[in-house]
Amino acid sequence: MVEETGDAARPWTIRSNVIASQVPIHREWGGVVPELASRQHIRDICGVVERALADAQTAWTDLGAVAVTQGPGLVGSLLIGVAFAKAAAATAGLPLVAVHHLAGHIESLVLQNGEMPLPAVVLVVSGGHTSLYLVERPGHYQLLSRTRDDAAGEAYDKVAKLLGLGYPGGPVIDRLAKTGNDRAVALPTTRLTHADRNAPELKGDLDFSFSGLKTAVLRHVRARAAAAAENEVGSRFTKNEKRPPTSFSAAEVADICASFQRVVVTALLDRLFDAARRYQAKSIGIAGGVSANSRLRAELTDRGNRRDVPTFLPSLQLSTDNAAMIAAAGLRKFRAGILAPDDLNADAALAL
Ligand code: KG4
Ligand code: ZN
Repeated sequence: MVEETGDAARPWTIRSNVIASQVPIHREWGGVVPELASRQHIRDICGVVERALADAQTAWTDLGAVAVTQGPGLVGSLLIGVAFAKAAAATAGLPLVAVHHLAGHIESLVLQNGEMPLPAVVLVVSGGHTSLYLVERPGHYQLLSRTRDDAAGEAYDKVAKLLGLGYPGGPVIDRLAKTGNDRAVALPTTRLTHADRNAPELKGDLDFSFSGLKTAVLRHVRARAAAAAENEVGSRFTKNEKRPPTSFSAAEVADICASFQRVVVTALLDRLFDAARRYQAKSIGIAGGVSANSRLRAELTDRGNRRDVPTFLPSLQLSTDNAAMIAAAGLRKFRAGILAPDDLNADAALAL
């Protein structure tokens, strides 16, 4: 729950922000299972809203509007949210505002830090998206580039899986990378120079690509496993068999994590700062789940200081998916008079 303040520097204040995490449910399967996600959503949604009202010490009658994520995302979960919000808004006689998930991530920056000097270049980097936006006017987001294949968070999750580190991969790789040598494993960086056939309107040279990096980590792990199997006298593994990842020493896993993380963070920041230069940005931000990454946060601040450009990050709590960022984006649309129609529907592939 987010409330308007009269303060231009920090226009919003958070009254409550309840998060029902499904990580323990999906961890068992190594990733998000859509059907389990929507079923748990139905079970959680009433209690979460009641707690959000209680935490904010408020009631339906005191609210000004209801904001809901329309998309993009898993359609089953989106539908539950949209149906609930429509019913709640109609019953309480409140206006309804539809929010794009990535607009929510971008507005988490303003929610945390106050308005960004514009034009701003913002990187939204999560489990499903790696996209660069130019913000020239508040509430207007122009897509500059995106990933051609995996999102950065997805690469973290896949690499963690192949190292046997569990789900979600970002936080654990981030932690293990701290003790590793980030030059131990030579991994490739992908630099795209041509336009994407699927998005010819974008130049393409600011695009991202992470699937080659993930494959390179996989090849490295397989090669090391094969070498280890060969060296081990009386090994129960044949030459072509992959040894379980547990056979890596902790130091070796840390080296792989650190090397992978260095390449991801460098790729993200190089493109972000290229865009900032190209569009003469007065501020630079990173939002989305991967913005919780310690190395990304430290290097963003460092590069920003060196170039004398203010940099913006959400708090750790506002980095990963949360309700307050959706309320913040909703409040901005509400102020601009942009309300959702009565027949609002969820849209799994909603464009920003
Ligand atoms: O924004 P988010 O909560 O959900 C989506 O909209 O996808 O982002 C989740 C993603 C996951 O892929 C997770 O591994 C990643 O954010 N993540 C991190 C860190 N914390 C979460 N990636 C790198 N370092 C972290 N510390
Ligand atoms: Zn997200």
